[in-house]
Amino acid sequence: MEHTPVLLPEVITALNPKPGDVCVDGTVGGGGHAAELVRRSPGGMFLGIDWNKNAVTRVREKLTALVDREGLAVTVNVVQGNFSRLEDIVREELSGKRVDCLLLDLGLSSYELEEKMGFSYREDAPLIMRYDEDTAGLTAARVVNEYDEKTLAHIFSEYGEERFAGRIAGSIVRERRKQPLYRTGELVQAVERALPHGHHSRRHAALRTFLALRLFVNKERENLESALAALPRIMAPQGRAAIISFHSLEDRIVKQALKLYGPPRLAASRREAGSGKPIRPGPKEIARNPRSRSAKLRIAMF
Ligand SMILES: C[S@@+](CC[C@H](N)C(=O)[O-])C[C@H]1O[C@@H](n2cnc3c(N)ncnc32)[C@H](O)[C@@H]1O
Repeated sequence: MEHTPVLLPEVITALNPKPGDVCVDGTVGGGGHAAELVRRSPGGMFLGIDWNKNAVTRVREKLTALVDREGLAVTVNVVQGNFSRLEDIVREELSGKRVDCLLLDLGLSSYELEEKMGFSYREDAPLIMRYDEDTAGLTAARVVNEYDEKTLAHIFSEYGEERFAGRIAGSIVRERRKQPLYRTGELVQAVERALPHGHHSRRHAALRTFLALRLFVNKERENLESALAALPRIMAPQGRAAIISFHSLEDRIVKQALKLYGPPRLAASRREAGSGKPIRPGPKEIARNPRSRSAKLRIAMF
């Protein structure tokens, strides 16, 4: 399934890419936003970064084909890397040039949900949950099988804001005494067993547990904090940064960090950003792309 870019017109209005601009997409994913940035910055440079190597290969091909097909005079470079190293990557790849447009569209792409890396509670797959697919590093299976009950409860509550964190941790520990949990299906069952009888929710029972594990395993909070802290050092004067988050923990981090950089002076987005409220998708976009439902876009100008 193709990844549909979220809030695409809003991101382009906010970033306002112009001829000759240096654009960086730190989460290039399926290249949906990237293609528009490349199209609108002739004579400029585009750097795409993604932690997932399949995304890098796919987007490199997609953008090279786009540049050839449309005869765009843009230097395109796509590299694998963690945006926690944003400052170093930008320095290495852009030879000291400052960034005019920067995008971070956080979380997972639709491709990663299909890659059987254990990100989805809807499909049975190994409990890995790593963007870089590095199974030698920390995996979700290691966390659920090796961490003590108290730490598991803390992870579910802190990262997933799961109200049944203690019950879920207890259920996982009981299940793993019988046999270790290596598959997403086994984890979903352990979560379902933990919930009070007759409990119903609009969301899948395991959504918050999976979110918490994904954030914890990939150190997503820390990665985001490092990238945001680097912005004043990599952005050009008048540079624009746009960050899309999909849950409250991330949005809080983005909101706090962008506050430090002052209110954006972008005419198109002054109203939304000035009021401290993020830009959200409208009902038409949500109907067309349900994944966009929880998206929040915040912008800053330097
Ligand atoms: C929501 S998708 C981006 C989709 C993209 N904007 C598009 O239009 O196709 C998020 C991407 O960020 C990547 N990602 C997540 N954490 C990352 C990190 N710390 N560093 C770099 N890429 C990361 C994921 O692998 C995924 O491809």
